[in-house]
Amino acid sequence: MATYKINEAITAVGASDFRLELFENLYPVPEGVSYNSYLISDEKTAVLDGVDASVADEFFGNIECALDGRNLDYIVVNHLEPDHSAALGGLISRYPSAQIVGNAKTKAMAAFYLGQAAADKMQVVTDGQTLSLGKTELKFVMTPMVHWPESMMCYESNYGILFSQDAFGSFGAVGGGVFDTDAAFNEHYIDEMRRYYANIVGKYGVQVAAVLGKAAALDIKMICPLHGLVIKNHIAKVVELYKKWSAYIPEKKGVFIACASMHGNTKRVAFELAERLAARGVTDVAIEDLSKRDVSYSVAKSFEYSNIVVASPTYNGQLFPKTEYYLSDLKLLNLSGRAYSVIENGSWAATAGKLTIDRAEGMKNSRIVGKTLNVRGGSYDREELDALSDEIAADLNR
Ligand code: FEO
Repeated sequence: MATYKINEAITAVGASDFRLELFENLYPVPEGVSYNSYLISDEKTAVLDGVDASVADEFFGNIECALDGRNLDYIVVNHLEPDHSAALGGLISRYPSAQIVGNAKTKAMAAFYLGQAAADKMQVVTDGQTLSLGKTELKFVMTPMVHWPESMMCYESNYGILFSQDAFGSFGAVGGGVFDTDAAFNEHYIDEMRRYYANIVGKYGVQVAAVLGKAAALDIKMICPLHGLVIKNHIAKVVELYKKWSAYIPEKKGVFIACASMHGNTKRVAFELAERLAARGVTDVAIEDLSKRDVSYSVAKSFEYSNIVVASPTYNGQLFPKTEYYLSDLKLLNLSGRAYSVIENGSWAATAGKLTIDRAEGMKNSRIVGKTLNVRGGSYDREELDALSDEIAADLNR
């Protein structure tokens, strides 16, 4: 059990699951995940959001400790997804007099997650409405489809804190401190923050941009998300990243090679392409093996880089399944504005190249760079690889 003081009135009372392997039973989280929750202790007391069932007992203990004998007056539900609402039933039964607060959509959906009784007693708030707890005051900001219909945020005006629910969150457990110190907010953290954003929220760029527009009018000194670190030292950086991600603007002019390879031949060509690009001065090149690491890592790299090379075998006359999954995920997440180059493998009736181009052209504002390099087993034309390398290098210098 551990609580962390955010300031004199606010305590982090969430908990981390260090043992979770798959977030949403889908995304690998080798460093676990945190489920953040915040207790405001003012003239009134309020808990902002709950946690996953896996850390419910720690959450209840944290709240009891932080309340220090006081009653709980409000339970604010910014987001109903079970990783934040599973423990709310237990919280409500421990503090039955607490007023549950949500918006009209939250109330409509609450019966599915909290039961009809909780839904019936939910106080409905609207965009811009405020709730005074004493010196602290919560202003509700509706953020539909970031990333659920009922999603909302709270802005606390006295301290300038945005309680941002899932937005600005990250994969990875939080332990030993909740703030974004330079040591904690490192390159790896940003990688995991990007992977979280791209895969969980990435589809809703338009809605995230609308939230950024609303946030621009607020004096934000701290961001308290429901996953990951509390952001107070790097607010400008995370806002800049969110502006790019929500507009599908690449962070880097560089090349991401998404590679699938059954017997190692296609992968060898992918590495040879990387070497040829380096020889042409293109050193910012990342490679992921679609079979070796979860597709969520490749999705994140695709948000990060301007140019994507898809290298894939043909399989049963179709795209290799991992390649199909990756490309369909990019489409689902609305990734746009990327340049695609293609390496296909197939010893007979090769279709991977054509199918990759079909998928790439189906994405908004995409471009195809260079001629598809045809690999047949382990053979290919070196001059064609050189030509493709030239085209990609030239495209990066456009
Ligand atoms: Fe962290 Fe959308 O739940």
